[in-house]
Amino acid sequence: MQEKISQIKDEYLAKISSVNTLKELDEIFLALFGKNGVVTQLPKEFSALEKEQLRVISPLFNQTKQQLEEAINRRRTEVREEYYQKLTQEEADFKTTVPLKSRAGSAHPLLQFEKEISDLFGKLGFQLFDAPHIDTDYNNFEVLNIPEEHPARDLWDTLYIDTSNVGKLANQLLLRTHTSNAQIRILENFKPPIRMMVLGRCFRYENLDARHEHTFDQFELVYVDKGLSMANLQYLSEYFLQSVLGKDTKVRLRPKYYPFVEPGVGIDGLCLFCKGEGCKVCGYVGWLELGGAGMIHPQVLKNGGIDPNEYTGIAWGPGLERILMLKLGVGDVRLFRSGDLKFLKEARYI
Ligand code: DAH
Repeated sequence: MQEKISQIKDEYLAKISSVNTLKELDEIFLALFGKNGVVTQLPKEFSALEKEQLRVISPLFNQTKQQLEEAINRRRTEVREEYYQKLTQEEADFKTTVPLKSRAGSAHPLLQFEKEISDLFGKLGFQLFDAPHIDTDYNNFEVLNIPEEHPARDLWDTLYIDTSNVGKLANQLLLRTHTSNAQIRILENFKPPIRMMVLGRCFRYENLDARHEHTFDQFELVYVDKGLSMANLQYLSEYFLQSVLGKDTKVRLRPKYYPFVEPGVGIDGLCLFCKGEGCKVCGYVGWLELGGAGMIHPQVLKNGGIDPNEYTGIAWGPGLERILMLKLGVGDVRLFRSGDLKFLKEARYI
């Protein structure tokens, strides 16, 4: 019996050290410790042994059993390590991923951009304000001079939320189409002079292409004081775009209709991809529309409880992705939310 046990031990230890897959190890484990396994069955033969012999055999058997178990566990760990080593080697060769050690995470480029912006405008005394992503039709449209049935609603392809059984809010909820939904909250809750900024996600039912995405970020400024004018607006636009895109960035304000400002403008930046020649990214216009702005409409000031005869206001709302596309040289807005690690690594900020 002694010999039989040591034979089993030698045979299986050799097998264990020669296999290279977890599957083979499982098979060996079953062959030893399964219901009909060699080790499981062996004690049945012990009944034929003399007591004296049993005193020697029992400890030997237990020790062998333990050694075999340990050998399987050890080899299992080795096989796993070999597997991961091979995997990272292949990944490194493949060049799409870097070896684990240097794969440090970083904040998403959009988040880093938001930090840069809030620092830039924090210096000018603007404070961060937040408004909900799910909001009422009233805050997102009505109070901003965009009543139901008004053709201006067509400017925003809106994602409405089915709330047919939410009582008072029935059919009143939507995903905010712009950060301008913060305007009324700011005007109602603060007394002028007001310097507030809103950074956050917006949603639209868009036809997706290189410049349009259903989920995107905007940056809204609400600036109310005595004697503000379009000159302040021009200054803020240049301060912002030249700080983030470079001193020689060309900025133009183009008259544009937005119901909640009067006058309203589109803020354009010269397309850095084609330098104004026209390309796929700018839709062959040469300029990229980076956002809208204007002097807050007197009616909107009134809606927020502010006297338009005493105060004037600037509202300002560029899209973050469009500007980041220029800043980082990204040709397709959809990459930002693609979860593509290769893109995120290359678009690493700064
Ligand atoms: N909310 C507008 C949009 O999403 C952008 C905008 C235009 C914001 C004019 C403003 C503004 O604050 O004054 O299209």
